[in-house]
Amino acid sequence: MAARINCSTSIQNSLWLLNPLNSKATTHFRNRLKFRQNLFSLSKGAMFCTCSTNNDKTNTDSTDPFVLTTPLYYVNAPPHMGSAYTTIAADAIARFQRLSGKKVVFVTGTDEHGEKIAAAAAACGSSPSEHCEVISQAYKTLWKDLDIAYDKFIRTTDPKHEEIVKEFYSRVLANGDIYKADYEGLYCINCEEYKDEKELLENHLCPIHLKPCVARKEDNYFFALSKYQKPLEETLTQNPDFVQPSFRLNEVQSWINSGLRDFSISRASVDWGIPIPNDDKQTVYVWFDALLGYISALSENKDQPNLQTAVSSGWPASLHLIGKDILRFHAVYWPAMLMSAGLAVPKKVFGHGFLTKDGMKMGKSLGNTLEPNELVHNFGPDAVRYFFLKEVEFGNDGDYSEDRFINIVNAHLANTIGNLLNRTLGLLRKNCQSTLVVDSTIAAEGTAFKDNVEKLVENARFHYENLSLSSACEAVLEIGNAGNSYMDERAPWSLFKQGGAASETAAKDLVIILEAMRIIAVALSPVTPNLSWRIYEQIGYSKDQFNRANWSDTKWGGLKGGQVMAQPKPIFARIEQRAETEDKSEPAATQVEKNKGKPKAKAVAEA
Ligand code: MSP
Repeated sequence: MAARINCSTSIQNSLWLLNPLNSKATTHFRNRLKFRQNLFSLSKGAMFCTCSTNNDKTNTDSTDPFVLTTPLYYVNAPPHMGSAYTTIAADAIARFQRLSGKKVVFVTGTDEHGEKIAAAAAACGSSPSEHCEVISQAYKTLWKDLDIAYDKFIRTTDPKHEEIVKEFYSRVLANGDIYKADYEGLYCINCEEYKDEKELLENHLCPIHLKPCVARKEDNYFFALSKYQKPLEETLTQNPDFVQPSFRLNEVQSWINSGLRDFSISRASVDWGIPIPNDDKQTVYVWFDALLGYISALSENKDQPNLQTAVSSGWPASLHLIGKDILRFHAVYWPAMLMSAGLAVPKKVFGHGFLTKDGMKMGKSLGNTLEPNELVHNFGPDAVRYFFLKEVEFGNDGDYSEDRFINIVNAHLANTIGNLLNRTLGLLRKNCQSTLVVDSTIAAEGTAFKDNVEKLVENARFHYENLSLSSACEAVLEIGNAGNSYMDERAPWSLFKQGGAASETAAKDLVIILEAMRIIAVALSPVTPNLSWRIYEQIGYSKDQFNRANWSDTKWGGLKGGQVMAQPKPIFARIEQRAETEDKSEPAATQVEKNKGKPKAKAVAEA
C-alpha cells in the first residue's frame, strides 16, 4: 500500500516543501502525483517501525495489563483455518499470561469497511451492514467452538469505533500530517493496497491473491509517513525486539532504509466507510480505520467514546499478533500514525507465517482453504489447537496434511498423554482403591524424574514467554514421554504382584506419574484447555479448582496422600485413520461424516 511517490524529482521535492507539514496553504494545493513504484514491496518484506516513547511502560510493571491483539478479520467471507490460526495462537498466549498472574486484555474483532466488503455483500444480495452482521457472527461462533476466551471483540462498524477514528484523524490533521493530492496506481482490492508494478506477476496479478490489480486514479488525502522516517529508525534502534521473529526485523529495516513515502488514507470511490471529517465525499481508507480498532476495543461501553479514555484503559498494546503479509501496516504505518497523534506505539509486533496448502497461502481469495468448523466439529477444539500450535513453528510457514494431523494428535494427545493417564489410573484403581498412598513430594524424594519434570516445565514457561509455542508444547510432551519411560522402567504392575515393600514402591510410582500428569494438565492448558480440564477431573479436582489453577501449580507437590482419583476413562478419543481404500482426496472430516453410524473415534488407552 503506502505508495512510493514516483513523480519527477522536482514535483516530489515540491510536494515535501509544499505539504502542510511545512505550510498551511498547501492543504488546498493539488499536487499531481504519479504513484508507479511502491517502495514497500511485500515480496521483499515489510518495513516496520516501532518506537518507544517516553510514556512507554514495560510489562514488568505487574499493574500494567497485558493487552494482546489479533488482526481484525475482513468479513468478506467466513473464517478459514488461516484466520483461525492467529486467534488460536493469541488465545494460548493470553491463557499463559493469565496463568502467570497478569491481567490480560485479549482483543479480537472484525474489519468491516471498504470496497472488498461492499463487493462481497453485493455478491450475496445483502446490504453491507447485513452482510457484516452475519459474517462477524460466524467469527464469534467459531471462536466459541475453538474455546477462544477473548476479552474484547471490536467491530469497525461500531459507532464508538467510528467516533474514535474521527477523533484520531482530527489529531493527525491538527498535527499537520494530512494533505490532499492526486493518486494514481495499481490497486489490489483483496489486499486493499496500492501495489508497486515491480512486485506484480504477469498481467498485473497480485502475487498473494493471483487476481489482477486495477488501475486507479483519484483525489485523496495523504498521511505524511515520510516525516516519521527518522523517528521510526530511532525506535527500531532503541527497541530491537519490537519486531519479531528477529528475521522479520531485517525486512522492516531494509524497507525503512530505502525511504518512506506518504500514503493515501482516504477513498473517493468507496461509500462503505467512515466519512472523512469535513469532507463527506471521501471515506477513511480501510487500514487507517481498522488499525484504530486496537484502541477503540479498549473503551468501555459505558464510556462516551473518546480516544483518551480508550487509551487510558490499557494502551499501548503489549503484543500485536499478525500474519507476515500485514507486517508493514503494523510495524511502519501504525507506529507512525500513533506518533503523529501523540500516542505510544505498541510494545511488540509478531509476524507469524502462513498456513499453506500445496505451498500456496491458504486464503479466501484463492479458495484453497481448510474449513475450521469441520475440523472442530469432528475432532474437537483441543486437537485442532494442539496440531497447529505444536506442528507449525510459530513465525514460519506450515503446510497442512490430514495424515499428519491424525498421526500427531493420536500419538501425542491420545497415546503419550491420554494412554499414560489411563494406564496409571487403572493400576491405581486395581491396587490402591484409586487413592494416593502418600504426598507426591514424599513419593518423589531422591528421584531424578522429579528434577527432569521441573526442568521441562521451566523450559515450557520460557518458551511460552518467548512465543515459541511449538517448543512449549514439545517441552510439555517431553514430560509425558518421561512419564511413559518411567512407567515402563519401573513396571509397577509386576511390583504389585510381588507384594510387600515392592508393592509400596509401585504405589509411590503411581503417585509420581500422576503428579507429572497434573503438571502436564496445567502446563498444556493454554493450548488444550478442555483436555487439561479432563485430566484434572480424572485426578480428583473440581472445575473450580481447575479454573483457579495458575502457573505456580506447575511446581512439584500438588497431589497429596489420601486424594481419591476418578474412575479411569479415556480423556482423548483416538481419531480413526481412514482405510486405505477410502478416497484420500477428501478431507478426513468429510470422510468421517460419510462414515456416520460407524464409530468416529475409538477410545484409547487400556490400563
Ligand atoms: N483486515 C486486515 C487486518 C486489519 S488489522 C487492523 C486483514 N484481514 S484478513 O482477514 O485478510 O487477515 C487477517 C489475518 O489472517 C492476517 O494476519 C493474515 O496474515 C492471517 N491469515 C490469512 N490467511 C492466512 C493463512 N493462510 N495462514 C496464516 N495466517 C493467515 O488482513
